[in-house]
Amino acid sequence: MSLTAIPCARGSIPGLGHLPRLARDPLAVLRTLHAEGPLLRLNIGTMPIVVATSADTVNEIMRERSKAFKKGRLFERVRPLVGNGLANSEGPTHLRNRRLIQPMFYKERIADYAQIMSDRAETLAGSWSAGQQIDVDQVMGLYAIETLAATLFSTDIGRPAVESVREDLPIILKYMLRRALAPKFMDNWPVWRQFDRSAARMRSVIDDVIAKTRASEPGSRTDLLSLLLSARDETGAGLTDEEVRDELTTMLFAGTETTASTLSWALHHLSEHPEIERELLAEIDNVVGDRPVTFADVPQLPSTTRVLDEVIRLHGVVTLMRRTTEQVTIGGYELPPDTEVLLSLYALHRHPELYPDPDRFDPGRWLPEHVAQRPREHVLPFGAGTRKCIGDKFSWMEATITLATILPRWKLRPAPGSRPPTESTSSMAHPTRMPMIVHPRSQD
Ligand code: HEM
Repeated sequence: MSLTAIPCARGSIPGLGHLPRLARDPLAVLRTLHAEGPLLRLNIGTMPIVVATSADTVNEIMRERSKAFKKGRLFERVRPLVGNGLANSEGPTHLRNRRLIQPMFYKERIADYAQIMSDRAETLAGSWSAGQQIDVDQVMGLYAIETLAATLFSTDIGRPAVESVREDLPIILKYMLRRALAPKFMDNWPVWRQFDRSAARMRSVIDDVIAKTRASEPGSRTDLLSLLLSARDETGAGLTDEEVRDELTTMLFAGTETTASTLSWALHHLSEHPEIERELLAEIDNVVGDRPVTFADVPQLPSTTRVLDEVIRLHGVVTLMRRTTEQVTIGGYELPPDTEVLLSLYALHRHPELYPDPDRFDPGRWLPEHVAQRPREHVLPFGAGTRKCIGDKFSWMEATITLATILPRWKLRPAPGSRPPTESTSSMAHPTRMPMIVHPRSQD
């Protein structure tokens, strides 16, 4: 069985396939693919992959026929580097660990983490001075790492891990995709030395914290590490130290660049839309006033949430990857086993029928009357089904608290002469360099 029945996206060149078109501007390709069909074939050199561009085909893969898929090629390369945590594991291991870990992201738990997030946001806003120039993308990257690390290891025992993660994770994140995609024969090349050193150091520090936390009195600690160590399945068995390390590492990978990029884009778009910024300021002033933002405030800040919803529509996770484990019908086409499939969330979230003038930033799209007209399964920034993001509420809590803490104090505006950020593709459409000046809000 072959994939030739599936329509081929335009612009394939013999031998090179769609590589030249993709190399020029991959996001532009993804943005327009839905016009060519709901299921398409792309040739990466001579290797065909299938791309799902419509809500129907994406949902078939993620929900209705999810049992016929596993994560695929990229994850097999990433697994030796970051372990077998939730994002990488498959089958019964994934199901069991997902059930164990899910309660750690229930509302009551997030209320505990919200206090840490609010403290961290206060520290960040307090660290700036009037007129200072900051690289927002860098600042938010470090901030998201430190905040997540502080919720993972909130006890004194965890402090060295927070320090190590702060230093090593940016290096690991920067090189991981390249390291995973490089051919195997390059594994021992000196070019990876910095990556390998950071990965080994972070692993060893996390192992050390796990051992110390296990040996200490659990008491009533609610940091994620303590919860992972005390979780038990229905047979009474818990996670091994290695599994705990893999889950912590996975959360650090999955939860930092994503949140940092969302916050950076939010600050950028607000700087371009002072009228929307004013609406947020009025809302925050009304609900929060001068005190630190709390867990209970967040549901009272719908305009802030709408800004985040719009940011993640425009600049969220670009594509997800899967591989068929058996023959399966998607969009009316037969896919044979071992077909690599790309799910284009980017295409889905910029579909002109659902989002008129789709490239425009417009948080008004998320007003209840508009949301009611859009089928829920068409909005998938956190994925869907059994592999849906476990940290969705966590990250929205963090992003809302952070914006509501920064905005009343500081007005961020692009540094004079700086170029507007563009989207750079990795897992997220994260921004290129974003230098901004912080102006005290009191001078408005
Ligand atoms: C703006 C922030 C975030 C976005 C846009 C995001 C997006 C996503 C998406 C799209 C998936 C599905 C991947 C797939 O189906 O292949 C996912 C999975 C996952 N995310 Fe997030 N994420 C965010 C924040 C977080 C945070 C803060 C954490 C942890 C604290 C986290 C942990 C995970 C984990 C563990 C998975 C794998 C779940 C599984 O397969 O069972 N994410 N995320």
